[in-house]
Amino acid sequence: HQTPVIAIDGPTASGKGTVATLVAAQLGFHLLDSGALYRLAALASLRYEIAPDAADDLAALVGDLHITFREGCAQLDGVDVSNEIRAEEIGNRASAIAVHQAVRAALVARQRAFRKEPGLVADGRDMGTVIFPDAPLKVFLTASVEARAARRYKQLIQKGFSANMDDLLRDLRERDARDSNRAVAPLKPAADAKLLDTSALTIDQAVDQVVQWYQAQ
Ligand code: C5P
Repeated sequence: HQTPVIAIDGPTASGKGTVATLVAAQLGFHLLDSGALYRLAALASLRYEIAPDAADDLAALVGDLHITFREGCAQLDGVDVSNEIRAEEIGNRASAIAVHQAVRAALVARQRAFRKEPGLVADGRDMGTVIFPDAPLKVFLTASVEARAARRYKQLIQKGFSANMDDLLRDLRERDARDSNRAVAPLKPAADAKLLDTSALTIDQAVDQVVQWYQAQ
């Protein structure tokens, strides 16, 4: 018996995080927010003043990171940074450091360690293609860039950050291009992934579809 994994990949602000959290809650599965790992690495690189292009130094930093996830909170060196890592600046830096193969390699084992009984829902960019290629269910979530910008805007305002729609659209397009065109683990659906366009779906509809696919196999 292989512990089941539901891999949910997709671009920034496609709703993966929310959908993954709710699917995990419904099935009683563990949750891996792999983007949070890249964001924690980005935050640490700022703190330790390691440049986003210093691949080897970043990989060493990532190997030594003291990270814990507890009840939806992300901690770095024992301090809750869940809110801090949601800032756009950190997301953009995460995307910049995620291009390095050495950084990605340093995070593989940490991500696979989340696979525990009774199962795991893992969200990110390469869950189905690289980290859990044997996942019994792979979902690729998409949504139009406008729908994603509107969601991100709402999310940032709710968290007390300031936000500007034009800046968000520009940043999303830039981040999409960088995540999709990088040489290592580019954002693309696994060959056996099911595509789910959430532009016109409510969160509950998207969650129901994923759970239904999982239960149908
Ligand atoms: O999903 P989130 O926006 O939190 O991820 C932040 C950045 O981390 C992404 O833009 C992407 O570049 C990177 N990332 C990645 N692989 C993952 C998860 C995130 O490269 N599995």
